[in-house]
Amino acid sequence: MLILGIDTSCDDTSASVVEDGGRIISNIVSSQSDIHAKYGGIVPELASRRHIEMVIPVVDEALKKAGVSLREIAAVAVCHGPGLIGSLLIGCSFAKALCYSAKVPLVAVNHLEGHILSPFLAPPVPEFPFLSLVVSGGHTSLYAVEGFGNYHELGRTRDDAAGEAYDKVSKLLGLGYPGGPVIDRLAQEGDGRAIDFPRAYLPETFDFSFSGLKTAVLNFLRSRLGDNKPASTLDKGMIGNIAASFQRAVVDVLVRKTEWAIKKKRIKRVALSGGVAANSELRKRMKEMGAERDVKVFVPPVDLCTDNAAMIAAAGYRHFIGGDLAGPDLNPRAYLPL
Ligand code: KG4
Ligand code: ZN
Repeated sequence: MLILGIDTSCDDTSASVVEDGGRIISNIVSSQSDIHAKYGGIVPELASRRHIEMVIPVVDEALKKAGVSLREIAAVAVCHGPGLIGSLLIGCSFAKALCYSAKVPLVAVNHLEGHILSPFLAPPVPEFPFLSLVVSGGHTSLYAVEGFGNYHELGRTRDDAAGEAYDKVSKLLGLGYPGGPVIDRLAQEGDGRAIDFPRAYLPETFDFSFSGLKTAVLNFLRSRLGDNKPASTLDKGMIGNIAASFQRAVVDVLVRKTEWAIKKKRIKRVALSGGVAANSELRKRMKEMGAERDVKVFVPPVDLCTDNAAMIAAAGYRHFIGGDLAGPDLNPRAYLPL
């Protein structure tokens, strides 16, 4: 059974054809990084406009690459939140019109459920129950996943998401948007123990906090540069050390909190997802922790960690076979609980 997934929740336009909720036939992602890079973050209005331009070509390409026509698609699954409302509106309006004109059923998918189910798109797939750490630009949450559609949020960030902290620190360092990949790369040339940035462990909770860490980087830069000099005047070695020390603080917290959840919930399977799960140090450290504690760690390929429509199609398949369809009255929501 083929599902066409569509995701326009943030700054990537994506469409994908997935078979039986697990086998990717095509997965097209059109990135907008080039548009937003010079602003140091996403400009929502520009994101919406680019989605309008790209949604038809991206869906066409996903179908073409899969070698299928709309008639062979069992249902269209579209992400209806959470995300940027203007961006979500493009994907939802398009999907509703497509389903109406082609007489194909429509399914609505929560973006976070898509991330949680992304490990099912590449073997080995996790068995239930497993812990899911969703770390992206908009979210940092830890879930106990008991089954499809059965997700218990154990904790979440109380302020910035981990990816947001990466993007803000990148902006402070004058490194552009998105910050994750560039900091990840620069950190490999730096010393993660050079600067002792704070870690908010928030004991006895599964919650996270990253805004203090971001402020600590800002204060460190001010102490080095004063109020006027730009970060570009720092030498390369220092930038590498800041990137590596910041990254080490983020990864320490994510790994430690996950370890605590493993212990408390007695669940010996962990899956990572979301854009920050593309981070090389997080992937490495989480796998090392798993090997030490005899815990199975599932880390999807990098292109399935960052936003993609294959994960929306995978989640949409479960809704479709469960009879959970959406209608022409579907409205996207910027804040949409799981
Ligand atoms: O899941 P995602 O593509 O979009 C959201 O739903 O937010 O995540 C995007 C976030 C951005 O903040 C980006 O800087 C971060 O993921 N990111 C990374 C890496 N690649 C992307 N963060 C750390 N290391 C990376 N390699
Ligand atoms: Zn996402």
